[in-house]
Amino acid sequence: MTSTDQQAFLSVRDLKVHFSTEDGIVKAVDGLSFDLEKGKTLGIVGESGSGKSVTNLTILGLHDRHRTAIDGEILLDGKELTTARESELEKLRGNKMAMIFQDALASLSPYHTIGKQIGETYRKHTGASKSEARKRAIEMLRRVGIPQPDMRVDDYPHQFSGGMRQRAMIAMALVCDPELLIADEPTTALDVTVQAQIMDLLKDLQQEFGTAIVFITHDLGVIADIADDVLVMYGGRCVERGTKEEVLRTPQHPYTVGLLSSMPSLDGPVDVPLSPIPGSPPSLLNPPSGCRFHPRCTFAEKVPGGLCSTERPLLKVEAGRGSACHLTLDQRQEFFADLAATRH
Ligand SMILES: Nc1ncnc2c1ncn2[C@@H]1O[C@H](COP(=O)(O)OP(=O)(O)OP(=O)(O)O)[C@@H](O)[C@H]1O
Ligand code: SF4
Ligand SMILES: [Mg+2]
Repeated sequence: MTSTDQQAFLSVRDLKVHFSTEDGIVKAVDGLSFDLEKGKTLGIVGESGSGKSVTNLTILGLHDRHRTAIDGEILLDGKELTTARESELEKLRGNKMAMIFQDALASLSPYHTIGKQIGETYRKHTGASKSEARKRAIEMLRRVGIPQPDMRVDDYPHQFSGGMRQRAMIAMALVCDPELLIADEPTTALDVTVQAQIMDLLKDLQQEFGTAIVFITHDLGVIADIADDVLVMYGGRCVERGTKEEVLRTPQHPYTVGLLSSMPSLDGPVDVPLSPIPGSPPSLLNPPSGCRFHPRCTFAEKVPGGLCSTERPLLKVEAGRGSACHLTLDQRQEFFADLAATRH
């Protein structure tokens, strides 16, 4: 995140994404702002249904346009995407911005070889010949660590293992050297070893190409490994943001504290008991008033006047660091000190 007035490579400003459904309006994203520079990774973390995927599908222009109301701005390298035509977005997807998802099988066609699929993406954006595209597909497969890429290029997705399919999807996403890569839980379905390999691969590729990465996950361990900056989402809003060190070491929001308490410490003592956050994520059809976290927050009673259930705490951001909570700074220091002690 930038602390200057200079335009960031990706800049999301007060983004709102609301869906009309038979039951009413679902406020999936409700006023989200963040910046991302080239060569940096922003980790977006939050429980299921907090609006992580909707945010990123909206950046890519892959939302359902008929039932979706979008407000705010998404600027990619200075270009406004929320008002861009579908044909312009189509050009940008794959070329300037690309994505990888959790489920490679669903993203790859079962009827075409891996090489053909990577090559076609390349041809579409560069106009390369079929033989150039095949060469490029082999080169990309080699780069993402597929052994014998000149042979495996003619395999179909089902002939690849889960980890290899994920690599192939990364190869396809990166074939046109996109400047922005959105990775939505790309390693969740993989075993820990393959997960670590894929993360290393993404880091290497980022170093090589200077790609900006948005990495979505519900796993703070993954954030600790890959992110530079972190944005914590709750109920369609950002509740905390900062550098990885700031957010993981000195969290300022009770929800982040809850997330950290429900995961094992990365380098701390192993016998600290884990305590999952009680209750369940809010309905976005009819979200709680005031602070959306208040029905689950064990600190709400420390704020006088029942403010937590009546008044929305604003996100105050200074130099990229901020949180949205009515607790005073002194209160947070006092209440969260125990957590910090167990995690240092
Ligand atoms: N097309 C849609 N129409 C109506 N509601 C939707 C639509 N797409 C998503 N939602 C709702 O928006 C909210 C946010 O969904 P989203 O997929 O962004 O969550 P998420 O943070 O990615 O969760 P997960 O960790 O489970 O992937 C959810 O309540 C979801 O049900
Ligand atoms: S504003 Fe109140 S309910 Fe919300 S996180 Fe802070 S203390 Fe908890
Ligand atoms: Mg999701």
